[in-house]
Amino acid sequence: MSLIPKETVDQVIAQADIVEVVGDFVSLKKKGQNMWACCPFHHEKSPSFSVSPAKGIYKCFGCGKAGNSVQFIMDVEGTSFPEAIKYLAKKYGIEVPEEEQHPEFAREQSERDSLFIVSEFASKHFQQRLHEHEQGGIGQSYLKQRGLSGNTIRKFELGYTLDEWSDLTDAALKAGFQQKYLEATGLTIAREDGKRYDRFRGRVMFPIHNISGRVVGFGARTLKPNDKKSPKYLNSPESDIYHKSNVLYGLFQAKQAIRMQDMCLMVEGYLDVLSLHQGGIENVVSSSGTSLTEGQIKLISRYTQNITVLYDGDAAGIKASLRGIDLILENGLNVDVVTFPEGEDPDSYIQKVGDTAFKAYIKEKAQDFISFKTSLYAEESKGNPVKKAEAVREIVGSIAKVPDAIKRTIFFRSCSLIFDIDEQILISEYNKMQLQDRQQPKTGNNYEPAEAPHEPVAPEKQDSDVDVLKRYEREIVRMLLNYPDRVLEEGMTTCQYMSEQLEDVAFRTPLYARLLELVKEKLSAGVLPTAEDFINYPDQEIRTEATNLLSDPHELSHNWETHHIFVPRETDLLPYGAERAVLRLKWRNVELLLKSEIEKLRLVTDPQEQDRQLNSIIMLKTLHSQLGDMLGIVVNK
Ligand code: CTP
Ligand code: MN
Repeated sequence: MSLIPKETVDQVIAQADIVEVVGDFVSLKKKGQNMWACCPFHHEKSPSFSVSPAKGIYKCFGCGKAGNSVQFIMDVEGTSFPEAIKYLAKKYGIEVPEEEQHPEFAREQSERDSLFIVSEFASKHFQQRLHEHEQGGIGQSYLKQRGLSGNTIRKFELGYTLDEWSDLTDAALKAGFQQKYLEATGLTIAREDGKRYDRFRGRVMFPIHNISGRVVGFGARTLKPNDKKSPKYLNSPESDIYHKSNVLYGLFQAKQAIRMQDMCLMVEGYLDVLSLHQGGIENVVSSSGTSLTEGQIKLISRYTQNITVLYDGDAAGIKASLRGIDLILENGLNVDVVTFPEGEDPDSYIQKVGDTAFKAYIKEKAQDFISFKTSLYAEESKGNPVKKAEAVREIVGSIAKVPDAIKRTIFFRSCSLIFDIDEQILISEYNKMQLQDRQQPKTGNNYEPAEAPHEPVAPEKQDSDVDVLKRYEREIVRMLLNYPDRVLEEGMTTCQYMSEQLEDVAFRTPLYARLLELVKEKLSAGVLPTAEDFINYPDQEIRTEATNLLSDPHELSHNWETHHIFVPRETDLLPYGAERAVLRLKWRNVELLLKSEIEKLRLVTDPQEQDRQLNSIIMLKTLHSQLGDMLGIVVNK
């Protein structure tokens, strides 16, 4: 069992607001009673991920992930239940009583939890070294000299590593952490001869957070400007919790501002992020010197569709990074570009001109990416027709990446103006490319057919008997969980009706059998079960299924509303629906029984036995057609 007291768990569950919790990770838009977003768990272009504030649950109709606030954190972070509770407790300022345990004996921790915890320990240790150790002064004065305030240093949890071989490793081992986790996070390097030492020494430390604010890795800057032997920046290696291509430096601190301003600034370095943030420009992230990846773009697109890339002043770097920007376009985001004067980067420039002038500069210089790229190439190919032809191909290639046809048209127009080329020539170039692309195996995601809507799948004729039963059983449990206390007829709730009707019916699907059993247990104890009983049930399988069942199926058809098609609400028809759900299951059960009895008849040889078997079959047949009549089903005789 969890080491966190049950009262604390209950308090966290009661206080966690699903919209706030999920809202930290995706931008939710209200539509009808629920909130919608593109699913953070699978790739999609139109939102099928829904959050129900009333029920306190989320559900993706695309990939099926579903649950309450705690489950969401477990899913999005890949952590255990206690770790998710701790995260939420922190968010809501609920105190979690200290567990009296050595880290080594933590039982319910997953491997990932251990890596998170050891990284957090290291980050705290580095901060302690910066602020309290006598050597920390070196780090402090460096940061001050770079213009960073105490506030910024604390907000980004900057630290310092002593210029010693194993300061962190020793401290961590002493605190009870296992060496394997120190190695797995790259904090400790173990040599073949058994000697171990710290990866980061004598450096200013930049902890890298994931979007929920947990430390997953570090960037570390040397303080020795002229040391040719060691690189200016050292970074944590990839680990189970740190995948460089899925992390953006500063996103945790920036996400609120990005959402509010509906715009994300991209810079190259750690210091650029810090300086801008300090200057009141908080919607800024960095890919930390590597070229942008699809995963990083997806992260940003959870908060905004607008990216402005701020380039360092060296022209050499710009061309190399143009590909990364094509990737942003491909993902349907809007990209603007700002360049800085030769030799300046955003950090040096804001320190030089101040916040106000910096903001004005960005505003004035921002240029849409296609025009930027076009100008760049137009400049280069001036007076050189061969180069110009190449340049046009290059630009048209970028425009082709833009999924939106209207935007493409606008880009063709501006490109034709800058290059002084007939728009038609550009468009026919584009068409040529499309044709070639189609003949080749598909590469980009440009020509995918539109995504199919995630409507409930109609029952297939060739479904196995087990599938059919499962569907019918599920339907009954769904009604039970959604409308347990709804009165169907005088003095009869859904719960009572179902459990009476199903008294001697055994469900064949184990999961639904358990759920039905739970309902019956509650009823016989004299209480009506509620949705919360199931959403918060200790067993994960029950929890997930209950959440799925509680996601109103009418939500699936939210586009019907926009098409003005009237859909009667399920509750209006509940007495009818409940009766039919029970009848259908019984009818199907009898049919299966009938089948197996007919099978048996073939094997019986004793005449008396045959008689009995025949009688039973006739009885079942009568029952079957009675049930069929009630359902309005015409049975072929
Ligand atoms: N970088 C890195 N490893 C290196 C050099 C750079 O990971 N050896 C990454 C860092 O994230 C760095 C970014 O690339 O912040 C930009 O590098 P650069 O322009 O060289 O550094 P600045 O950010 O300008 O660093 P500083 O201002 O601290 O000199
Ligand atoms: Mn710099």
